[in-house]
Formats: sequence, C-alpha cells, structure tokens
Amino acid sequence: MTEPVRLVDALERIESEGLASIEAADSLGVLEELRVRYLGRSGELAGILSGIGQAEPEDRRAIGQAANTAKRRLQEAHTGRQAALESAESAGVSKADLTMPGRRAWEGGVHPVTRVIDEICEIFRELGFSKVRGPEAETEWYNFQALNIPLEHPAADMWDTFYLADGVVLRSHTSPVQARIMETHEPPVRVVVPGLCYRRDPFDPTHAPAFEQIEGLAVDETIDFIEFRSAIQYFVQRFFGLGRRTRFRPSYFPFTEPSAEVDVSCGVCNGFGCPTCKGTGWLEIMGSGMVHPAVFQAVGYDPERYTGYAFGMGSGRIAMVRHGIPDIRLLYEGDTAFLSQFIS
Ligand code: DAH
Repeated sequence: MTEPVRLVDALERIESEGLASIEAADSLGVLEELRVRYLGRSGELAGILSGIGQAEPEDRRAIGQAANTAKRRLQEAHTGRQAALESAESAGVSKADLTMPGRRAWEGGVHPVTRVIDEICEIFRELGFSKVRGPEAETEWYNFQALNIPLEHPAADMWDTFYLADGVVLRSHTSPVQARIMETHEPPVRVVVPGLCYRRDPFDPTHAPAFEQIEGLAVDETIDFIEFRSAIQYFVQRFFGLGRRTRFRPSYFPFTEPSAEVDVSCGVCNGFGCPTCKGTGWLEIMGSGMVHPAVFQAVGYDPERYTGYAFGMGSGRIAMVRHGIPDIRLLYEGDTAFLSQFIS
C-alpha cells in the first residue's frame, strides 16, 4: 500500500511546484521550458504515469484521477500565463526600460505659407477688410477683359495662362475676384482674397506653376493715393517690423493707373545691399495701384464717383523673403525636416 500513496503524493508535489513555477515565469521562453518539464512527453507527469503499472490495480484509479487533475490544472495555468506574457510582450511592457526618457509626441505645425496668408488677412482685417474667395477655374472675361486686358493685347501675355476649355482658364492671378466682388457688392468694398493661381511656368527656384496669391481691393468715395500708400505702409510695418521701409516704384498693370511695385527694405542688410537683395537693398513684395476707371466701368461702378486701390502679392514669395528661403520648391516638398524649423 505504500506505492500508490507515494505516487499520489508525488503528483501533488509536482502539481503545486509546477503551478508556482508557471505563475512565476517571466518570459515565454521560461514558460516553454516549464511546459516541457512538467507536461512534456518525457516530463514529470509522464514519468509518474509510466510507473502506474507497478501500482496495485485497485489504486490505479486514484492515481489516474490525481494525474488527470494535476495535468488539467497545470495546462490551465500554462494557458493563462502564456496569454498574460504575450499581451505584455506585445504592449512592450516586458521589454520597457522604465528609466528611459519619454519620446516627444509628434508636433504638427502650420505651413509657413499658410502662416503668411493668415497673418496678412488678420492685419487687413484690422483695417476693415473681409476675407473672400473666388473660383480657380475662371472665365477669360474675369481673368482678363473685366480687368482691362484685351485678349489680343500683348498685356494678356504678362500671364502665361493654362486653358481648360474655350474661354475657360485656370486663373493666372487672384485679380479676377476683384471684378466678381464689385459686380455683386455696392461700395464701400474692402476685401482680401487669398487663393491658388496657375501659370505655365517651369518649376524652378523662383517659379511654381501653382502658387498662392493674396489680392486686396478697397473702393469707396474718398480713397486717394495717400490712403493707398498709408495702408500699404502700415501693412509692411505690421508684417515685417517697424524698422522696415517701403518703396513705391512706378510700374504698369492694365487694371491700375497709376501702378506701382512695392518694395520693402532688406531685413538682412537693412537696405545696405547684400546677396539676399542682390545688392539693391530692397525686396519686391507686391504689385499695386489705383483701380483703373475701365475696371469700374466693366463691373458697373460709376468711375466718376468711386476710387480705390488694389494690390496683389505672392504669399510663397513673402514667406521666402521673411525666412530667407532660397528655393520656392522647398515650400512644396512637405519635408518635415525643413518645415519643422517654422513651428513656433
Ligand atoms: N495680378 C497681378 C499679378 O498677378 C498682381 C497685381 C498687380 C494685383 C497690381 C493687383 C494690382 O491688384 O493692383 O501679377
């Protein structure tokens, strides 16, 4: 009668030892070793069962039952521990070095061109300008004729235009929105118009076939050249800084008379002359002028009663001037190493 008692005792000892070891297993590798050791084909349980033949026949039943119970409990413990270790491992818990510094969360930012657009619109908002938008697919009428640009006139060649269909273009500037707004609104009008424009230009360091512009238009009964210059000067100082000077250079646009190119003094050399301003001391930022009476006529405004000023600038170019960016293509690449410099 000693043999079955010893076997049942041995089974209980194997079970309790095995359960404790399995619970304590701290990796899947250790757990697998324990499985082989206790439950494997030549493991401890199997070893006991192979001795069952020597037990008294009437004791075999008790031994068999004890062996089955031990096997089931060990298997259950193994399955449970395996699941726990696997989920910890996939969550990285078992491999985590808790003393390591945390990883910085990914930080998004506003693109430098979008920032320029937002800031310009905000400065003009303070001066009473609303922000409006217009279509990128535009008719020849709005893109050219309403702006006093006859199609057959060489002035139309100032903009190398993409045609979508007969009489329909991808707008080559934001100026057509001037005419659209005036057609649907009575003066006083004060609007800024950000948006994409398209030209048949090569994609090179200073040109892009699709680019952002911001148009401005102010029309009222008493607007004169002084108000025009003051508004632009105010904008330049707000946007670029109080120390920057503004220069108006005579120019030509069909939709303004007189017309002016606006320059801002170079922020790198303060107007002294350096590579950034190509030695001139000035950086060109916009085209502008007093709205041509022919444009008022085209939209049904009385040119005897109303006057106004308009301007147009390339937001990408402004961003380049502001940050000293040498190649416009950098603004299109979405390279986070480049763009992350501008997260403020
Ligand atoms: N539309 C012109 C261009 O794309 C820029 C421009 C010049 C706009 C003078 C204006 C302006 O409103 O008055 O080159």
